[in-house]
Amino acid sequence: MILVSGATGNVGGELVAALAREGRPVRALVRSEPAPGRLPEGAEPVVGDLNDPASLRPALDGVRGAFLLPGYADMPGALAELRAAGVAHVVLLSSISVPDGDLGNAVSRFMIRSEEAVREADLPWTILRPSGFMSNTFQWKGQLAAGDVVEDAFGDVAIASVDPYDIGAVAARVLLDKEHVGQTYALSGPRALLPADRLRLLGEALGRELTFVGLSDAEARRRMDGTMPEEYVEAFFRYYGQGSEHALDDSVVRPGVRQVLGRGPREFAQWARAHAGEFTDPKA
Ligand SMILES: NC(=O)c1ccc[n+]([C@@H]2O[C@H](COP(=O)([O-])OP(=O)(O)OC[C@H]3O[C@@H](n4cnc5c(N)ncnc54)[C@H](OP(=O)(O)O)[C@@H]3O)[C@@H](O)[C@H]2O)c1
Repeated sequence: MILVSGATGNVGGELVAALAREGRPVRALVRSEPAPGRLPEGAEPVVGDLNDPASLRPALDGVRGAFLLPGYADMPGALAELRAAGVAHVVLLSSISVPDGDLGNAVSRFMIRSEEAVREADLPWTILRPSGFMSNTFQWKGQLAAGDVVEDAFGDVAIASVDPYDIGAVAARVLLDKEHVGQTYALSGPRALLPADRLRLLGEALGRELTFVGLSDAEARRRMDGTMPEEYVEAFFRYYGQGSEHALDDSVVRPGVRQVLGRGPREFAQWARAHAGEFTDPKA
């Protein structure tokens, strides 16, 4: 049995689907009983909260491999529960920002601390370090429901974003084949794209002509304030803001998808075609 956290999310959902395609028994950790259709087919839901390690016990019964999201309140405690339950392999979702070691960045910090907890947990592990996700494009859903113009921050920052489909496929492979224990894989998409390139490709998938307008850092910061904790706003400007001393080079194409799957990563255009319906269906 494999336990997948975040199974209602972009990556966990793809992982459940990848395991189900291979006919593997998979359990989805959910915080509350999911609404019908919310979980990918093939997953058995079990309630538990990553912020409350003891709540994971029922979900861990009979689990051999576990997929763990980063950054929860007590990662060492959660990992101790996995170990006590006899889990033989944990795969941690981390980030490409970790090697920079910038503890002054709140997002990097929770990723770094999560990796440390996994390495110190006395459990066989594999770490996945993805670049930004193609699914971050869903942030434009509201603007695209209202019109054909998208205004967003960091218009001059090209990112080799990765398809959660590929992260899920890599995580499934890594959980199923022992040879990946102790490995850390850096994952990205096949090429760096500016936000305007992504919007053009999304427009092609939607059959619409869309226009991207880049915001100045000052305007972007004004709009982001209050939408998330201040330290996360700061983190994004440390990664992508003009003149940042801690800039993240998310434009680099990373080898992990090919190393694990023996094929190149999926293109953004494929992601856009696969998810076009979610931009047009108001219920999606
Ligand atoms: N976006 C990026 O570019 C990027 C890059 C590198 C790493 N990451 C990391 O990747 C993670 C997953 O991304 P995603 O896009 O797949 O996430 P997502 O679609 O936002 O989904 C988040 C998932 O986490 C679950 N969750 C939230 N709090 C939880 C808790 N306390 N206990 C158990 N489950 C909980 C949610 O379940 P519910 O249904 O209960 O809400 C949901 O399934 C992010 O959280 C981030 O740490 C993201």
